[in-house]
Amino acid sequence: MTFRQTHLLGIEQLAPDEITTVLDLADEYVALNRSHDKHGDALKGLTQVNMFFENSTRTQSSFELAGRRLGADVMNMSMQASSIKKGETLIDTAMTINAMHPDLLVVRHPHSGAVEMLSQKVNCAVLNAGDGKHEHPTQALLDALTIRRAKGRLHRLNIAICGDIAHSRVARSNLLLLHKMENRIRLVGPTTLVPGAFAELGCEVYDDMKEGLKDVDVVMMLRLQKERMDGGFIPSEREYYHRYGLDAEKLAFAKEDAIVMHPGPMNRGVEIDGTIADDINRSVIQDQVEMGVAVRMAAMDLLARNLRERRAA
Ligand code: NCD
Repeated sequence: MTFRQTHLLGIEQLAPDEITTVLDLADEYVALNRSHDKHGDALKGLTQVNMFFENSTRTQSSFELAGRRLGADVMNMSMQASSIKKGETLIDTAMTINAMHPDLLVVRHPHSGAVEMLSQKVNCAVLNAGDGKHEHPTQALLDALTIRRAKGRLHRLNIAICGDIAHSRVARSNLLLLHKMENRIRLVGPTTLVPGAFAELGCEVYDDMKEGLKDVDVVMMLRLQKERMDGGFIPSEREYYHRYGLDAEKLAFAKEDAIVMHPGPMNRGVEIDGTIADDINRSVIQDQVEMGVAVRMAAMDLLARNLRERRAA
């Protein structure tokens, strides 16, 4: 097994063989999670602290369940209500947590780069659960596992990432991962939401959904990140749905067996039609949630192995 990381800060730092290591181990955890006794002991004796400075439902609960299933003591810190409100800096908060000897620190933060900065101040393994518009590595890994299981491979696929790419850490991490694994990537959305710089990574850019979806294997939809917009990126939600919302008519341009993905939370009727999202023959949105727990178990297991080795040395 090859996984050389001390922290999981982004896909940018991972080599293709490390990505494959995470996915292979996650496959084993999918089987464990489907069995009657869901307990492993890879994190036994370790303390996992979840610090979410931004709201989250699925990511936080997924990390929590992953840690508990592998035997860690899991603590959720409610950062909304914490000393941050009283003016404590991120570094002071990190030092306080560090003094409690955690082994795994799972952090979500509204500022790009905040999680990496924090990782330099603590003695444990840090996992980025989403930092601003920057990266969301476990989301890209769970998406990759979902694609690999549905399509039987994770290379030479045509993949369309659609919608609000500019504000999306999910798009950024997915783009990096799918590029490293040698897929053909298309970015589809209004020019206001697709940054030109992304094209430099070698992807094709489309502002027309029907052209962009033509013959793709995977359609990845993104949420309109209204909380990260500070002005008129789209004319109106109705107009946006008309041009960029995924409905049966637009999906018909993709391959007949194309899968539909969405990281959640979904805005039904804005970026995706509810019936497509619920269509069990096309949509793998529930699989993504299932893969999320397994991928987080695998990532924390691998980081914990490296942590133990470092401490023993
Ligand atoms: C994503 C996120 O928080 O970046 N959601 C998630 O992790 N499930 C995507 C989003 O918020 O749209």
